[in-house]
Amino acid sequence: MTIYSKIIGTGRYLPEKILTNKDLEKIVDTNDQWIQERTGIKQRHIAADGQYTSDLAYNASIKALEAADIQASDLDMIIVGTTTPDLIFPSTACLLQSKLGCPGIGAFDVNAACSGFIYALSVADKYIKSGSHKRILVVGAETLTRIVNWEDRTTAVLFGDGAGAVVLEASKEQGILSTHIHANGDHADLLTTNKGPSRGMDDSQTGPIAIMMKGNAVFKVAVKTLGSIVDETLEHNNLEKSDIDWLVPHQANLRIITATARKLKMDMNQVIVTVDQTGNTSAASVPMALDYGIRSGKIKKGQTVLLEAFGGGFTWGSALLKL
Ligand code: ACO
Repeated sequence: MTIYSKIIGTGRYLPEKILTNKDLEKIVDTNDQWIQERTGIKQRHIAADGQYTSDLAYNASIKALEAADIQASDLDMIIVGTTTPDLIFPSTACLLQSKLGCPGIGAFDVNAACSGFIYALSVADKYIKSGSHKRILVVGAETLTRIVNWEDRTTAVLFGDGAGAVVLEASKEQGILSTHIHANGDHADLLTTNKGPSRGMDDSQTGPIAIMMKGNAVFKVAVKTLGSIVDETLEHNNLEKSDIDWLVPHQANLRIITATARKLKMDMNQVIVTVDQTGNTSAASVPMALDYGIRSGKIKKGQTVLLEAFGGGFTWGSALLKL
């Protein structure tokens, strides 16, 4: 008998504070029209002082557990996709585990930048399919605005904070049909940070830690790569484009999302779009968009959903699932 991992609950959390494009006009040389035309972003949420990635993850996880109607003590693993952990160690997953009060179970982070949630989901899916685990909490959580250079208009306007979570459970019913993950470290310099623990964190040399991105080059690779991951996923499952009910893409840029939807011959009303409200929240983007799609009543039980993401590394991946 095939064991599937099925999503039995989702949740998301966005910090209260909102930074609009108009607010950004006062911080850097930019304007609302440029940001909306080039990215589709209208606003992003900013974590409060003293609010960390594990706090956002906790709030999203509580909602996912409630939706799944289970307790944290029912979980047997926690995986967090994040590129902005609270600390270098302990992992954000360990800090989250402590907040949830379920000691003892395995808990670890996955860093695959914006593809972090898809990577984490793919690991969780394999654990459940192997029969060793029954209920895994998979989270994407980020406080990316903490590593933004607010003087660099080419990146400051793009990113936001947030967290999304799903509970996966072993099931006889179809759930996750397949996951696909890829990376190419040759393009590391196109999307990276200016420093890190091993290379040195001395602020006097290079200023505070900050995201550095050659946006235009990343854009071109992202559009091409997301097209090929869609083809790979459909071929693997012997499905046609028309078999997909919903596309839940990584929310980096509306133009990338539109290009991927066009490639799938999908109408935009079959695509979940939240980038206008959240900006790019990296690993949090796909699970937050999925939760929005489900809670808004757009995505319905039994439908076929394609998740996809592309991010720093480069990393990219997809998951095809029946809800
Ligand atoms: N406001 C006003 N003007 C700006 C701004 C801004 N915020 N930022 C850049 N510009 C200017 C540039 O200086 C440039 O001016 P010039 O023509 O006089 O030189 C002009 O706008 C065009 O700049 P481009 O970089 O070519 O703009 P582009 O259309 O490529 O849009 C963007 C930039 C939005 C970053 C886009 O390239 C993009 O979305 N890239 C992909 C991002 C992505 O998907 N990242 C992956 C995930 S992120 C992760 O993994 C952490």
